[in-house]
Amino acid sequence: MNRIKRDTPTPATTAVPACAHRHAYHMMPPQGWMNDPNGFIFYQGQYHLFYQHYPYAPQWGLMHWGHCVSDDLIRWKPLPLALKPDHPYDENGCFSGSSLVHGGKLYVFYTGNAADGRQTQCLAVSADGVHFEKYENNPVIPSPPDFIKPNQFRDPCVFCRNNRYYMVAGAEGKDHHGQALVYVSDNLLDWAYLASITTGQSPMGYMWECPNMIFVDDQAVLMLSPQGMTDHPQFDNSGDTGFFVGHFDADTGAYTHGEFHKLDYGFDLYATQTTKDTSGRCLVTAWMSTWATPTPTKACQWAGSMILPREMRFQNGKLTFHPVRELTRYLSPVTTVTDIACGRLHPLRGSVCRLELLAQNADFAIRLFCSPDGTEYTALSYSAQQRTLSLDLSRSGEDARGTRSVALSDATEPVRLDLYLDRSSLEVFIGEGEQVMSARVFPHQASDGIQFFGDAMLTRLSLWKINIPEESAAFLLSGHSQSNCNAVTPV
Ligand code: FRU
Repeated sequence: MNRIKRDTPTPATTAVPACAHRHAYHMMPPQGWMNDPNGFIFYQGQYHLFYQHYPYAPQWGLMHWGHCVSDDLIRWKPLPLALKPDHPYDENGCFSGSSLVHGGKLYVFYTGNAADGRQTQCLAVSADGVHFEKYENNPVIPSPPDFIKPNQFRDPCVFCRNNRYYMVAGAEGKDHHGQALVYVSDNLLDWAYLASITTGQSPMGYMWECPNMIFVDDQAVLMLSPQGMTDHPQFDNSGDTGFFVGHFDADTGAYTHGEFHKLDYGFDLYATQTTKDTSGRCLVTAWMSTWATPTPTKACQWAGSMILPREMRFQNGKLTFHPVRELTRYLSPVTTVTDIACGRLHPLRGSVCRLELLAQNADFAIRLFCSPDGTEYTALSYSAQQRTLSLDLSRSGEDARGTRSVALSDATEPVRLDLYLDRSSLEVFIGEGEQVMSARVFPHQASDGIQFFGDAMLTRLSLWKINIPEESAAFLLSGHSQSNCNAVTPV
């Protein structure tokens, strides 16, 4: 297959300027633009995470696959670009996909976006986890079935079941209904169409992006990011992300499932990637953004980050989400208080920290990322009467936004909140991980106060700093302002 010759674009910068919004422990690109995570997998002793990447400017553009590795899912080391758009079938971008280990090699499946907008499913293989060869007979799936729009067929998720390989790809039908297409293969090269997954009589959005099938405790969880959920008010993002729990029939490709659940109740989560590691843990990561998220970091030549990877488990019949336990290695205790009314607590400080609290079922509020003059803050408030938790970003700093609320699904007392702050992000794990709220916020650098309000008795509150050692230059991808940019090699 002919290679495409391109003019060499100029990288936006070779170093990200000092930027108060760089995270300490969330994965983000060395520079340039990042959206969906791709190909998340444990391979040859490390976690590999690829991502939709435009390395030459902090905006979406011709998509490459960026690549990084980690020993612990917290500190990420950048590797050279894994995929570049250099063949006619992916000339307009190497779009999202997933990976799988076969015969000791790493197989990555991605969507080739051709110049005319046609989308096909393609393969690249690596023997060392760093250098990738595109398969000579790409694309492995050159077109979707007739009832699918040829330019809306993307984001393959591959998995193995009963010794056969399956692929689930997102699609828009010619009837404008979102769906996921199921393919089967015995050798990862030749694929046959099996079935389409839909929501039957009540269609859900017009295009399903980034489907992910993962078997958690043998239940088939299908996550996806449908576009156009205007008929479903609880899915408030223009593109939102949720999951079904169901049963996958490996013979027919049929998927029977219950209702679609929201995956996150905050502002900023889209395009999940799931993987099962060698210990059997089911992990999920996602872009900590949607297409509507503000990106003031563009001024510092970067945009986009990933959520803290979450472990998924079923507890009491519910899928629950937990920050990966590796983070506990980096916690250093600051304070613990017990049995005190929330409003009587002295203010604390921290913007790279974990705050956990157990509260009685009475009203309370916490202001995070507070400025010294008290005018800037991100507010989290609990209403006992409504049993709702609200996240208010209307005074959170640059590009402030509105409020999102969630009705707590767990009726037991105390109310447990586990908060993770990382300079420009907040993730709130509620109860035993039944619900999560995630958001990007852009406070000023001096806004690191934590203030408490309300009568609710706190049976316990603990604050930890999250200390990421910076001695290892190799792991500065997650570092503050001292980004080490992997040399960007233009196409
Ligand atoms: C989701 C998405 C995918 C596509 C990729 C392109 O955010 O639109 O469907 O593969 O981004 O960057």
